[in-house]
Parts: sequence; C-alpha cells; structure tokens
Amino acid sequence: MASAVPFLEMNLPSMQGNSISQDRLLGRLDELATIGPIDGGGSCRLALTDADRDGRDLVVTWMKDLGLEVAIDGVGNIIGTWNVGTGSPVMTGSHIDTVRTGGRFDGNLGVIAGLEVIETLMAAGLTPARPLSVGVFTNEEGARFQPDMLGSLVYVGGLPLESVLDTIAIDGAVLGDELQRIGYAGSAPCPSAAPHAFVELHIEQGPRLEAEGIQIGAVTGVQGISWQEVTIAGQSNHAGTTPMSLRHDPAYIAAEIAVYLRQIANEYGGNQVCTVGKIDLHPNLINVVPKSATLTLDVRNTDEKILCEVESKITQKIAQLATAEGVSISSRVLARFEPVEFDDQVTGLIEDLANHHNRSVMRMPSGAGHDAQMLARVCPSSMIFTPSVQGISHNTAEFTHTDDLVAGTNILMDTMWALAHLDFTPQTGMK
Ligand code: GLV
Ligand code: MN
Ligand code: MN
Repeated sequence: MASAVPFLEMNLPSMQGNSISQDRLLGRLDELATIGPIDGGGSCRLALTDADRDGRDLVVTWMKDLGLEVAIDGVGNIIGTWNVGTGSPVMTGSHIDTVRTGGRFDGNLGVIAGLEVIETLMAAGLTPARPLSVGVFTNEEGARFQPDMLGSLVYVGGLPLESVLDTIAIDGAVLGDELQRIGYAGSAPCPSAAPHAFVELHIEQGPRLEAEGIQIGAVTGVQGISWQEVTIAGQSNHAGTTPMSLRHDPAYIAAEIAVYLRQIANEYGGNQVCTVGKIDLHPNLINVVPKSATLTLDVRNTDEKILCEVESKITQKIAQLATAEGVSISSRVLARFEPVEFDDQVTGLIEDLANHHNRSVMRMPSGAGHDAQMLARVCPSSMIFTPSVQGISHNTAEFTHTDDLVAGTNILMDTMWALAHLDFTPQTGMK
C-alpha cells in the first residue's frame, strides 16, 4: 500500500473540499474536560470511577445523537459504529480514562476526533465502502487497574475476560464490581471480531515533534513496557534511638532502587527510560524507621533484548541491596508488553497523507503505551501523532495547538477513508 498506492485517485474527503469542524472538535474536548475537573484545567477520571462513568455517558450520548450503533462489551469497552458499506469496519478510537493529574487531550482526542470524522462525512453526504467505528477502551492508563491497555487487550483476546473481572484496583475495588456499579458491564462479545484496520490519533506526549519542528508523527510502533511492584519489608524502629549500623530500613532501599533506575537508564541511553512513580511507606511517620516500602518500577525500551537485560540488572541490584541492608524484598509483575511494530503500509499511508495535507511528517516510535498496540495483534494498525507543547503530558499543562489538532483530525479522516477503500494484505510485525 504505502507510497505506491494511488490514493490521489481515490477522491479523498479532503479533496472534495471537506474539513472537520474545529469548533465542534474543541467544543467536545472542552465539554469532556469539565467531567472530573481538577485545578489547572485537566481532569481526573480514573478508570471505572463515577467521573469515568459520567464521561462515558457523555460520549455515548454523542454517539447516539450521530445515529451510531453503540455496543458495550463485557469489559466495558464502548464501540460506536456507523453501519454503512460492507465488510468489517475501519476502526479508530482511544480512551477517556485519565491518570489522576490528566490533561485534556490524552486519549480524549482520539475518541472525539473519531466522532468528528464520522460527523463530517455524514454532513458531506459521503458514505465509505466499509463501516466506521469509534472505540472507547476501558482502563488504558493502567493508573487504577493494571495492566494498562486492559480493555483493548481483552478486546483482541489477549487476556480472558473472566480473570480480568477479578482485577483489584489500587483502592481495593474489584473491576467486575465497578463495571456493574457504573452500568458498563455490557453484553457485546469480548473478544470481538477483528476490524479491517485500526488507526488512532493521539498527542505525542513527548518533546520530539516540537523540538524538530515537525507537525505530524507517523508512528512506527510502541516501545516495550515492563511494570512491577516491589515490596520491601524491614524493621520498624525509633528514628532517634536506633543506631545507623543497626537499621533495616525499607525507605533507604526504596531510594537506592530509584537512584539505580536513573543510573541504569543513563548508562544505556538511547530509548531506555526508567521511572519510580509511586512509593508508599508504612507507617509513613517522621520519627519512625518504616516497616515496609512499596514502590512501582516503570521500565521501557524499543528494543526487547535491551529491555530484558535492564530488567535482569535491576533484579540483581535489588537482591544485592536486600542482602546489604538485611531487608526482604518481593516483587510482582503488573504489566509486561513487548515492543510492537505497526503495519508499515498503514504508517506509510499516514506519512503520504500528511504530505498531501502539506504537513511536515516524520516516522517515530511511541514512548507511551496505546490501545493501537493491542489492536495491532489482530489487524493492520498505526497511529497519527500531533505535537505536544514542551512535551508535557500526564499533567494538567498538557497542550496541543488547535491548528495541529485540526490537521491531525483531517488526516485521520482521509486515512480512515483510504483504509475503507483499499484492500491490502496485513504485514507481519504484530505481536
Ligand atoms: C499510558 O499512558 C502509558 O503509561 O504509556
Ligand atoms: Mn493515551
Ligand atoms: Mn496516558
């Protein structure tokens, strides 16, 4: 498909003078951001909370207003389909759950842009050859339940629904109970039939596009993700009376692990990133050497071999630290996904269409996890990135210029149209 495809002969929606509506796109982004509002203008809609339910209700209302068929599956994924044409749908979408300090664009853009594409085509009287669907996938963030991308993973059959329903949240809630409680334990089949193709519009969430002055990212894949929770058990004691030589201090070891993660990321360089995002101490008091510490490790790389190597060095280091301090350490895997390569034909199509829209474009991997990486297991998939100002995300200051949002959504429209009118053989590279 890629550059050899004569999509210029295809009469794309943009060639017929159609553009998505900036006002509608921004209006919906604004309206969704008012649900779960937090200081600084972002939102907190942790998965399957009341705020997430309210956000879902709003999106479902939009879908129904557009006349889409709305299906909700057993893990709470919402799929809105414009049931026209024949065959399996071209799907887009993303998520509307957020981290606790979420911005206005992460995930929301992909869902709202999908609706915007459909509304624009409908208003123009253009009917694609295949159905078009917009997916809203459950718990993409992985902030409340692990693993991340959980809804899309179950959607493609990567985890059995029954076991996922027992997942315990960071606040002790059970996923299946929460789905029932908010009214999103649906009956549509999950796993579901594979779409014809999947394309997700998302903000980059990193600094590269802005730094290089490029307007669109044609995403080649997603780096591997390794999440674990480490629990350190030591000896709680008096902070004033316990000699330093007699301590078995979990807080100290948690700090050593965090420092080691920074060191090893620096040592490997390249795409290696390591983060300690959460540390809980018990009893968490100023004058008590803690009894225990629990921390999370987020380790990512585009190269699976290097990622394994780094994971193994971290494991060795943790064992050494445990012995030296006389504490016991256990760990549990919260998520582990290998790097994913997107379908080169779909990425090439995005690149060509960005050029056609007179936007500068570059191929790039994604540093963040995305639902598209799960859909890539079952159908040709790729992503369109728009620049993030100062590369800030998972932060209320997350921002993307309107011009970039509009261009990204117009490119999404043409990409979905082209995918609906092209036949192609899925390429390998899917994991
Ligand atoms: C999802 O936002 C991630 O952590 O990559
Ligand atoms: Mn996201
Ligand atoms: Mn995110």
